[in-house]
Amino acid sequence: MSVKQDVLQYFMEHKGEYISGEELAVGLQVSRSAIWKAVKNLQAEGHEIKAVTNKGYCLQSSHDVLSESGIRKYMSEDVLNHVKLIIENTVDSTNTRLKVMAGSGAEEWTVMVAEEQTAGRGRMNRSFYSPSRTGIYMSILFRPKISARESLFITTMAAVAVTKALENILGLHPMIKWVNDIYLDSKKVCGILTEAAINVENGYLDYAVLGIGINVKLPEESFPDEIKDIAGVLSHGGDEKEELRCQIVAEVLNYIYQYYEDLEEHSFMDEYISHSFLIGKKVYVVGNEQEELFVKGISESAGLIVEHEDGRVEELSSGEVSVKTVIAR
Ligand code: BTN
Repeated sequence: MSVKQDVLQYFMEHKGEYISGEELAVGLQVSRSAIWKAVKNLQAEGHEIKAVTNKGYCLQSSHDVLSESGIRKYMSEDVLNHVKLIIENTVDSTNTRLKVMAGSGAEEWTVMVAEEQTAGRGRMNRSFYSPSRTGIYMSILFRPKISARESLFITTMAAVAVTKALENILGLHPMIKWVNDIYLDSKKVCGILTEAAINVENGYLDYAVLGIGINVKLPEESFPDEIKDIAGVLSHGGDEKEELRCQIVAEVLNYIYQYYEDLEEHSFMDEYISHSFLIGKKVYVVGNEQEELFVKGISESAGLIVEHEDGRVEELSSGEVSVKTVIAR
């Protein structure tokens, strides 16, 4: 670990307490000036560290910040060695920013995480509400040698990665609503948007930007009226896990790394199917509310297998469905 990470760890263990520079220097066996530099860097990353003459430094107990050192602490060795992590306070959209970087040659595994988005985007030209410090807004750049059709599996891989990360860290049981949403207690807590550019010469992707938005805590002013009935959060305050958002970012990346290694094998599809929110439910396709469909399953190619009222079975490969009612059949 770097001095900066050691200092942050020490502060975390003594949250809300004043610690002198000397105590830190002796405890971590480094010079006072190295401590001073580490504290300055941590403050620049957004960590709320107060410095008071004759008392020392104090990490505020309400502290919860997305920081490079905080996230790196929870990454697997493989991810640590591959990821180029960019942390931003406010951006328009991490997907938009990463697409621009992709166009200028940024490397695969460049990851951008932001505290806030002012123009967060969802599927179907919708916006994604991204208020400051209560969610996770992250995008990952890939350059896989796959066709456009296969790029759907980047989204399904990410849905499983988020689900598994939330199960591990919080003991939750989230469900995946085909194709790109994660639901908890019938509310949407995460949306995924994959955007790609095709190389027309060979038909493969030039790049894909995978964007993940997670509502971790309730925003101060709650959710806007348009989404307040659908949007949910992971944590309702109270006894919150230390560095929760950093842990989630890292664990999602850990899973994505593992699944991406053999993306073409679709090793995550069993988990995708077993976490399905829609199987066994009556749904309608958005834009065709009249016709009721029964969801029979999800195919290996990640299509939604539905039965029409006349008994006809069809596989939907794209689009969006909404749940009508839960039925036992
Ligand atoms: C959806 O709900 O339709 C998908 C939402 C995807 C939101 C994430 S947040 C990070 C990345 N940047 C964006 O502008 N969108 C994605």
